[in-house]
Amino acid sequence: MENIIPHNHSITQADRVKRSGFKPVLIWFTGLSGSGKSTLAGALEVYLHTQGVPTYILDGDNIRSGLNKDLDFSEESRQENIRRISEVSHLFLDAGVVVLTAFISPFRSDRQSARDLVGDENFFEVYVECPIEVCEERDVKGLYAKARRGEIKNFTGIDSPFEEPQNPTIKVNTANEDLEDCLRHLINKIVPKLK
Ligand code: ADX
Repeated sequence: MENIIPHNHSITQADRVKRSGFKPVLIWFTGLSGSGKSTLAGALEVYLHTQGVPTYILDGDNIRSGLNKDLDFSEESRQENIRRISEVSHLFLDAGVVVLTAFISPFRSDRQSARDLVGDENFFEVYVECPIEVCEERDVKGLYAKARRGEIKNFTGIDSPFEEPQNPTIKVNTANEDLEDCLRHLINKIVPKLK
């Protein structure tokens, strides 16, 4: 960028990590609306917090009511949504915090960009798999019903695509496994990597 000269501050990420004792990583949940991303991210955060890990959750509906309230659900806006979230996550990682994100993040290329930004070794992709029929039956927010009635356009899984992860770090299936099982799976896979 022209005329922008980033400043290197004296306290580095390494200093912040030394103080917390945990490696900051980005735990990226992806899946359909209603698949259970926020619930799982929340449960994992509670566990990590009790272990003394500094954490922060970035969640679709929350971020879209603040930072990203100017964005809709067009392909370009979803891309911009994930680009900003990736940058914010990167800052949190620099601050020494373990970040959990819960966004549909339907496009493979956007998830790949997030991975590239923070580094492969710091990125855990968690695919929260759940058949659309089950998400639709749950319909916690009543949005699938609205989408079927045509009141919401570009709804993921109905008239907007979801590109499944091909090689996620972890896959959980919330239609077949209960929350406890999914959580145990995540803890076993992730916690050893934080030390
Ligand atoms: S993303 O596709 O850009 O990653 P994000 O996770 O931020 O989506 O927001 C998804 C949430 O917005 C859904 O859980 C749902 O509550 C709400 N929502 C509103 N309209 C749509 C839509 N057209 N498609 C998907 N989710 C929508």
